[in-house]
Amino acid sequence: MTWSPALLERNNEALLPMAQLTTMRIGGPAKVLTIDHLEDLGEALREQPCHFLGKGANLLVSDEPLRAPVLRLGKSFAQYQWLSEGDEALLRVGAAHDLALLIGRCCRDGYAGLEGLAGVPATVGGALCMNAGTAKHWIFDCLSRVQVLLPAATTAEWFDREQCQPQYRHSGFPAGTFFVACEFRLRRATAASLVATAKQLKAAKAASQPLSAASAGCIFKNPSPQLPAGRLIDELGLKGTVIGGAQISEQHGNFIINQGGALAHDVAALVRLIRGRARRERGIDLSLEVQRWELPDEIFEPTAEDV
Ligand code: EPU
Repeated sequence: MTWSPALLERNNEALLPMAQLTTMRIGGPAKVLTIDHLEDLGEALREQPCHFLGKGANLLVSDEPLRAPVLRLGKSFAQYQWLSEGDEALLRVGAAHDLALLIGRCCRDGYAGLEGLAGVPATVGGALCMNAGTAKHWIFDCLSRVQVLLPAATTAEWFDREQCQPQYRHSGFPAGTFFVACEFRLRRATAASLVATAKQLKAAKAASQPLSAASAGCIFKNPSPQLPAGRLIDELGLKGTVIGGAQISEQHGNFIINQGGALAHDVAALVRLIRGRARRERGIDLSLEVQRWELPDEIFEPTAEDV
């Protein structure tokens, strides 16, 4: 199935290198459709399989040309609107809105709720999809409702927060759900203290994470709050290990960085090494947090050669 000429006339399609659209700076060329009309989303999503792109901040993509097209939301989905203001405010935001810009705006306007996510690189839609956040704050915490296209649906529907079942790094919606917009319930607070909180969180991240290097953020989910993956990898003595163009960060064990020219397979080899050692030496199975596109699960599974 291909998109109709009418849809392609209204929305932009281009062949783009995924290495330029991901913070890991890895990935081959892909057909990328940028959707700017809500009424076209249903048809765009009928093309399956299809990848959904947000900010590309938690993503590892195959170096080969992608078989499936990539769908992302254009500027018309990056709008925001105050539905009510006061001590309790309701803010509607399109899924393509940049999360950091939104947090900055809310803090400066004196509305609390999202500042705990300061420093999380994502679009609002990407953050919802994986229930992004930190150890203490999740994006679903201040969500009022969310608009999605469920897999195989042709129109978008709203779900109240009470109908959602978010878990650690997972929205709770089925795989293939497309996030369109959401509404946040925020509280009036002092702008200066919100700005200070956001600044402090960003500074703490900058002190512990390799933010200036190309990476996809944390590679693994934390096996438990008591044993963060970064500490485990640190204790295994693996920080600084290099394979090809990829390196386990010297600064934070749960980051793999692209030192320049890294291939997806270099990252996979480091993942296998870490998983193999964690399993053998500590009896711990590490789950990947990073999303993978067109990379088979097997290449991330340790073999005897990897440990
Ligand atoms: N630690 C080490 N060595 C390391 C890294 C960490 O000993 O190399 C220790 C730290 O000293 C600390 C503990 O491990 O005592 C936890 O580390 P950190 O505070 O950096 O938090 P984290 O659990 O590694 C989580 C999220 C991050 C988020 C931070 C800050 C996950 C997998 N990671 O990291 O999210 O930025 O909290 O709130 O939940 C991401 O999702 O991509 C991500 C980076």
